[in-house]
Amino acid sequence: MDFTKSENSNTAILAGDSIARFITGGGLACTCVRQDIAPQSAVYGFECSDIYEYKPTLAKRLVRLVGTRSHVQARFIEDCPYGDFGIEIERNPRGSVYLGDIVHASLGLSVSIGVGMTGEPEMLDIGKAPHVLIAGTTGSGKSVLLNTIIAGLVYKNEPQACELVLIDPKRVEFDAWAGIPHLRCPIVQGSENAVQALESLADEMDSRYEKMSSMGVKTAAEAGMNRIVCVIDELADLMLVSKKSVENNIVRIAQLGRAAGIHLVVATQSPRAAVVTGLIRANMPCKIALTCNGVRESMIVLDHGGAEKLLGAGDALIRRPGSVGETRFQAAYTPAGDIEKLVSSVKANCQPVKHTVPLERRKGSVLRWILTGE
Ligand SMILES: Nc1ncnc2c1ncn2[C@@H]1O[C@H](COP(=O)(O)OP(=O)(O)O)[C@@H](O)[C@H]1O
Ligand SMILES: [Mg+2]
Repeated sequence: MDFTKSENSNTAILAGDSIARFITGGGLACTCVRQDIAPQSAVYGFECSDIYEYKPTLAKRLVRLVGTRSHVQARFIEDCPYGDFGIEIERNPRGSVYLGDIVHASLGLSVSIGVGMTGEPEMLDIGKAPHVLIAGTTGSGKSVLLNTIIAGLVYKNEPQACELVLIDPKRVEFDAWAGIPHLRCPIVQGSENAVQALESLADEMDSRYEKMSSMGVKTAAEAGMNRIVCVIDELADLMLVSKKSVENNIVRIAQLGRAAGIHLVVATQSPRAAVVTGLIRANMPCKIALTCNGVRESMIVLDHGGAEKLLGAGDALIRRPGSVGETRFQAAYTPAGDIEKLVSSVKANCQPVKHTVPLERRKGSVLRWILTGE
């Protein structure tokens, strides 16, 4: 499919070789051994011709000169993994990343969400995540990122492999996806419905566990059940309606959902303790921070400051389960036109999953359609 791609001609990038020539001319003979172009910055690694000639103070001074001569922000990297020293040059304006640049790297539940600092696609494996919390202030790029994640899932999965429950209390963000065969139920709009939908999803998880135990298997895949990814845009709206029930269901799904093939991707513009409670934080193992309002919000997402310094418009930090630090990446932008193309293609080519749910469960359930998909 032809998705929009970036032209990436919007920033002049200094060539590593010409920087090396400049530094060599300044009295420090070196060659450029590595050049990583990321959307936010370009990183260059230099090796001195003779290791004994490496003079850190001189290198530092010359790097500063590179910056002032070329009118760019240049940072000296002392412990450069490639070569003797490195330079990071901030790109201004930043390079852009579109869905079309990275979507090819997606595979199954592993979706590419942007470009990392080495210029490679940044992957988010929802199967392993297995639940993701996304936080950032208004306008930082949460909805764009969610749409990129949904696009990756829809592009690389048949509904028989992965279904979606899209919860959109604000009623505006996911409209473009209406009617795709991957939807397990119509897009859930309004806060009250959203709260009930989450309840039904927890019910579905319980019934999957019953089925798995009656079959004597431990995972949804062994029981022949597909994955369900539930995407929520704006947790705060749900917490306003019924904090107890929402927290309870999110924590339960986050703790038990993985084996049952149920995954959560939850976004919020209010990373405050009242919304992202301690329990929710502790149980969502994968975190993505976009620009936050101040250190306190950054602390709630990442346990430390830093997210308040991000540049906005998809500049992000991701912390994966089990890893200590974060990696920075530029989230990909998914234009409305690309979503339209994808939607009409899957509508034409994919069949929705037929759900057979015992009648007694249909009657008892809060929202029949989450369970039955009707
Ligand atoms: N990854 C991105 N690349 C480029 N621009 C972006 C990106 N993410 C967001 N933006 C810009 O920021 C605006 C707001 O993004 P949005 O996702 O609606 O923010 P939020 O949902 O956090 O309020 C977008 O309309 C777009 O112009
Ligand atoms: Mg939004």
